[in-house]
Amino acid sequence: MLILGIETSCDETAVAVVENGKKIVSSLISSQIALHRVYQGIVPEIAARKHLEKINPLIDLVLKNAKINFSGLDGVAVTAGPGLIGSLLTGVMAAKSISYSFHLPLIGVNHLEGHLLANFLLEKKPAFPFLGLIISGGHTQLVYLPGLGKYRILGETRDDAVGEALDKTAKFLNLGYPGGPIIEKLAKKGNPQAITFPRPRLPGSWDFSFSGLKTALINFSTGRSTFKTTVPREKITPADIVASFQQAVVEVVTEKTLKAAKHLGVKNIVIGGGVSANGFLRREFARLAEKDKMKIFFPPLELCTDNAAMIACAGYYKLKKSKKLPAIKIDPNLPLQDWK
Ligand code: KG4
Ligand code: ZN
Repeated sequence: MLILGIETSCDETAVAVVENGKKIVSSLISSQIALHRVYQGIVPEIAARKHLEKINPLIDLVLKNAKINFSGLDGVAVTAGPGLIGSLLTGVMAAKSISYSFHLPLIGVNHLEGHLLANFLLEKKPAFPFLGLIISGGHTQLVYLPGLGKYRILGETRDDAVGEALDKTAKFLNLGYPGGPIIEKLAKKGNPQAITFPRPRLPGSWDFSFSGLKTALINFSTGRSTFKTTVPREKITPADIVASFQQAVVEVVTEKTLKAAKHLGVKNIVIGGGVSANGFLRREFARLAEKDKMKIFFPPLELCTDNAAMIACAGYYKLKKSKKLPAIKIDPNLPLQDWK
């Protein structure tokens, strides 16, 4: 079964063809990062216009690389939300047109289930039940998956998403955009124990909160607040600041996730979303999980950030499992919902 995947929820125009939810036949991403970098964040109107420009040539190129035409496909999967409304519309309209013209099933995919199911493109896919952790620029969510297409949300961020906190912090420090990979790189030169930033643990809840931590960094940098330091204040470098910040973020995320897995009694943890590309976070998870005898799944690096292979993969499973595919409702705040 060959599924065409289309992803345009944010600032990447992405198209892919995936065979049987497993083999990526062709996958292309046209990134808009350079376009938005000057604003140090995504400008929704610019993103939507760029998607419109890129989507058709990208679909043509992916099909050409896959050596098939539209009638060789078995379905079209597209991100229906969450995301930016103008961006989502471009992808969904393209998918609808293809589905209508070539009589192909149209499969609406939630971007967040795409991030989790990116792990199903691994050689050995995770077994249910598992705990999912979505950490991206727009979302931070802990969700229990008792089976395919079944979602029980445990907790989510009350303010900034993890990636958002990293991006905003980098913006404040004038480090560039997107902040996550820049902070990861700079942090390698710093001391993660230099500053003891607060750990927002929110005891008794599976929710997260990162905006206070971001404010702590800003206040420390501007001299408005002091925190315990292991190095004299005047010796602290920007690398120490971001390393200490990253340390606090990773500590909170890993601790809470492992605690939730223990609470649920699951042994498998499946992670997805742009922040899961972070090497420090991956190593910390691996280290702690080994201690707790848990198995952690991460997508390969190129499938952590937005891509269409994960959407085609999720679409394949949804098409196989669903009795009746519901009509697509584009929703910028689309929640994870059980498959019908
Ligand atoms: O999943 P994604 O591509 O888009 C959303 O669905 O939001 O995630 C983008 C986010 C950005 O906030 C970016 O800074 C972060 O992922 N990110 C990283 C890394 N690579 C991307 N954060 C930390 N370390 C990285 N290596
Ligand atoms: Zn994403």
